Amino acid sequence: MNSPIRVSVTGAAGNIGYALLFRLAAGDCYGKDQPIILQLLEIPPGMKALEGVVMELMDSAFPLLHGIEISDDPNAAFKGANQAFLVGSRPRTKDMSRADLITANGPIFVGQGRALAAHAAADVRVLVVGNPCNTNALIAMSAGKEIPKDRWHAMTRLDENRAKAQIAAKVGALPGEVSNLGMLGTPSATMFPDLRHAKVQGKSVTDVCDRTWLETDFVKTVATRGKAIIEARGASSAASAASAAVDHMSALWNGTAAGDFTSMGVCSNGAYGIPENLIFSFPVTAKAGDWQIVAGLDRDDFANSRIANTVRELESERETVKDLLS
Ligand code: NAD
Ligand code: LMR
Repeated sequence: MNSPIRVSVTGAAGNIGYALLFRLAAGDCYGKDQPIILQLLEIPPGMKALEGVVMELMDSAFPLLHGIEISDDPNAAFKGANQAFLVGSRPRTKDMSRADLITANGPIFVGQGRALAAHAAADVRVLVVGNPCNTNALIAMSAGKEIPKDRWHAMTRLDENRAKAQIAAKVGALPGEVSNLGMLGTPSATMFPDLRHAKVQGKSVTDVCDRTWLETDFVKTVATRGKAIIEARGASSAASAASAAVDHMSALWNGTAAGDFTSMGVCSNGAYGIPENLIFSFPVTAKAGDWQIVAGLDRDDFANSRIANTVRELESERETVKDLLS
């Protein structure tokens, strides 16, 4: 058994938190030989509900859960954190776009970025889930400059999982048989699923699936899935978002499978012409906490024009929050 790692989760009494904490405590992210200590952050009105969640975590008697600490102070909740899930923030309602959340949610990530830089462990890895996650990650990275840029992540794995599920259902395969599917950009209508390199049961997705379906229903279903869930459930996706957060951090911790890659929102180093320092979802491989953008994937004119759209959206969000960036 390894020594415990400290895992901070913000918004821990919220809907995603409620699904995420139990997956983490069960060993679904870091493995069955990796104990964890949970450090949970809420705002004061959420603390009472958080106490109830802690009771349930205790009552689950998870062998890997070696401690639970709760706080409404980010400086305490991030102390010594090796892994941090920044979930706490407002979800959109059905008449809003994710970008509409930036004014309400952006400021949260200034204080949390600073607190992480001041208190987290030297090896910290941070996943921003709260929307709009790419720009919130940019704000946190800017506020927490002492933490290397490659440690800040935004979650686009939910969109990748949705795309895999749609393709698998269409061709009668299992989601686990869809690979090499990179979601490019930011999770919104401009996000571009790069299917030129994607495979299902080892065959090219573009050979196996009808092109019209891929360019119309498929793209639309993936792009509007968050809204469809809000309309059906009356609340934004939570269990699937928690599951995607586990998938993202598990891929970073345990590594991606040989020959495959996954989608992570990470700080652009200029690869594929994406402006430096935007948090952009790239196809990446990962190993032992580090990641690399997959090099040499060819792009056609259609892909380039779609990528330009998603870059423009991220640049516009960056302009909106320029006062929060340092
Ligand atoms: P929720 O309202 O159920 O829970 C959010 C929790 O965060 C609440 O308990 C609230 O008290 C807490 N909170 C608010 N401000 C906080 C702060 N400053 N510090 C700590 N905690 C704070 O919402 P949810 O369904 O859990 O969603 C959380 C966020 O995740 C939303 O922004 C949502 O849009 C986003 N989300 C992202 C993805 C993705 O793919 N990236 C998917 C689903 C949801
Ligand atoms: C999702 O895609 O389900 C989340 O980003 C929540 C949302 O607002 O759509």
